[in-house]
Amino acid sequence: MTIQWFPGHMAKARRQVTEKLKLVDIIFELIDARLPVSSRNPMLDEIIHQKTKLLILNKADMADEVQTKQWIAYFKSKGHQAIAVNSLDAVGLKRVTKAAEEVLKPKWDRMKAKGLKARAIRAMIVGIPNVGKSTMINRLAKKNIARTGNMPGVTRAQQWIKVGKELELLDTPGILWPKFEDPEVGFKLAVTGAIKDTIMNMDDLAIYGLNFLAKHYPDRLEERYQIREIAPDVVDTFDHIGKLRAVKKVGGEMDYSYIAELIVRDIRNENLGKLTFDFVDEYEAKEKEKELLVELEKERKRALKKLASEQAKSETNE
Ligand code: G4P
Repeated sequence: MTIQWFPGHMAKARRQVTEKLKLVDIIFELIDARLPVSSRNPMLDEIIHQKTKLLILNKADMADEVQTKQWIAYFKSKGHQAIAVNSLDAVGLKRVTKAAEEVLKPKWDRMKAKGLKARAIRAMIVGIPNVGKSTMINRLAKKNIARTGNMPGVTRAQQWIKVGKELELLDTPGILWPKFEDPEVGFKLAVTGAIKDTIMNMDDLAIYGLNFLAKHYPDRLEERYQIREIAPDVVDTFDHIGKLRAVKKVGGEMDYSYIAELIVRDIRNENLGKLTFDFVDEYEAKEKEKELLVELEKERKRALKKLASEQAKSETNE
């Protein structure tokens, strides 16, 4: 896998988030709506323990709306409140405060019952690089950045951003790193541009993108490139797209690197429409498969243990 993954990064993220955890009531976990699984780091839950969390599917303007709805329903079915937003659009962001209030209502009600005065919700944004953390903070902030070093529990001067009366946001987000044992996750992050500056091969990315589109979005392929399938020899598909887009030949040869870039750019720039690269049904099938493998492994170990004890018994009888 060519996208770099350093364990040190995650250790730093863990420190950063852990330090600030006690200052906030809720974590806003920013996810790329095009990659509701691949753009998350499953270790976050270990870091934040039982801290209340709101899942925010950002860049929803670029994602397949049908899939986004299915993902929100999926997360809810697992007990997580999730909303879809576009951080470039301030109107949609109002829903962030509302959703945070809803998620924290039970805690707030308990505080009220104890006679404690209601106060603004304190939140912290976390997410992988490029998911839109700064954009969201800046949009929510408008001009309301307030330095409030004298808040109880705040040891160091910490910038809090007031979002209306109801919300206070830490101005520094927690940066997580995508985690991908599964190489396909790397492809998904790179082809959407969720991770930039990767040294991944453009040809491989374009081929991955084409195959994904042929499987999940053949209509989009047809609309843009007048094909529904990828040729058995992918070079033929590259040739077809090159001709269609009048790519200039170099020394009489088709410029395949340029065609690969063109395909990846088309995917990233929404020229193939709004796309989601993680599908709920596929994810659930994979999870079931994993569970099954774990069960089979347990079964195997049980059988081996039984066999060993039977053997030991028969040896003592002999
Ligand atoms: P980060 O702090 O998490 O690293 O991310 P940042 O806010 O810098 O956002 C990364 C890019 O994503 C920015 O584009 C930003 O405008 C874009 N972005 C953030 N939120 C949204 C959203 O809800 N919808 C869309 N469509 N874009 C969003 P940029 O700096 O111009 O970089 P580029 O990726 O466009 O080149």
